[in-house]
Amino acid sequence: MKTLRNDRFLRALLRQSVDRTPIWMMRQAGRYLPEYRASRAKAGDFMSLCRNPELCCEVTLQPLDRYPLDTAILFSDILTIPDAMGLGLRFVEGEGPIFDKPLRTVDAIRKLSSPDPEGELRYVMDAVRTIRAALGDRLPLIGFSGSPWTLATYMIEGCGGHDFARVKRMALEEPEAFDQLARHLADTVVQYLAAQHAAGADALMVFDTWGGVLSPPAYARFSLAPMAHIVERLAELAPGVPVILFTKNGGQHLEKMAATGCAALGLDWTTSLADARRRVGDRVALQGNLDPITLFAHPDRIREETARVLADYGHGPGHIFNLGHGIVPQTPPEHAAAMIEAVIELSPPYHR
Ligand code: CP3
Repeated sequence: MKTLRNDRFLRALLRQSVDRTPIWMMRQAGRYLPEYRASRAKAGDFMSLCRNPELCCEVTLQPLDRYPLDTAILFSDILTIPDAMGLGLRFVEGEGPIFDKPLRTVDAIRKLSSPDPEGELRYVMDAVRTIRAALGDRLPLIGFSGSPWTLATYMIEGCGGHDFARVKRMALEEPEAFDQLARHLADTVVQYLAAQHAAGADALMVFDTWGGVLSPPAYARFSLAPMAHIVERLAELAPGVPVILFTKNGGQHLEKMAATGCAALGLDWTTSLADARRRVGDRVALQGNLDPITLFAHPDRIREETARVLADYGHGPGHIFNLGHGIVPQTPPEHAAAMIEAVIELSPPYHR
């Protein structure tokens, strides 16, 4: 492994000792930062920003120039894969992502292509290479993808979910075709993440934003099983690279998630870190889990809540401080600073 000047994040992922708890924020490069909004305006729109490696690099570095964060995360989106499969992705202001050609039939599932990470998705790999070069040995870089289930929800619904009626109905009525879709997406994600690692990503995170809307057996079959396949294949293609699994609202599934062999689990704020640690802390690191809405409160409250999250995890290595979900666009940037300062000031005693 290359030597980094700041390797707290990678050490914590391996549950090795650190001087203080590392911290990063989901969606740390984003609309809450005025400099991000300026870069997006330069690009024209969000997807043009994602397709421009130089601007991707610029926005990836913005939060790192502002705050003493412990890792970079690739600036991109989980929907690059379905976009490269030809579903016609658009982002509509105030409405979120929309696919003009959603996936609605078993026949369409059978005909889905496998985008080549260095072909249709080369712009993502170029962004990883550009960011890696700009970071030098300063910080690690996280690469990421959506989970097969979460990608399938957007591909089948055609937009962000409400009750997920279409995707759940497909899984219920055509379970074999759905398994085939999940496996196809899992294989595509494996290639995509392995290529991000080859291009310079030091850790890989799988965002399973919508796994928590499933019944336990449906979660096991349609969300967890394809994620387990991804972890297993990555262990062969990118040996030793830590993988973080994050199922939003997945607190009840932690044991099964840890059993995949991943390095760490991301937790939202509805699960206690202490409880999670008792259940799986001998096997995986834990990442989380301040409620992002906390950052709307007075900085004194933010400090108290940050202290509570640190105390909830308690003494010893294996904790990566993060929000429990993405930072909200209306967040005052100085409130994020209050949280980061609190982690830096209050966490060292937990590592002595
Ligand atoms: O964390 C980071 O800083 C890395 C960048 C990142 C983005 N999206 C940038 C982005 C990551 C990791 C994602 C993941 C992602 N994208 C998820 C999983 C998120 C999770 O936390 O569970 C999902 C569901 C998506 C799909 C998506 N992309 C949505 C729902 C939206 C919001 C649309 C809206 O208008 O609110 C996006 C757009 C998006 N992705 C933005 C950013 C910074 C905002 C785009 C803009 O500038 O308008």
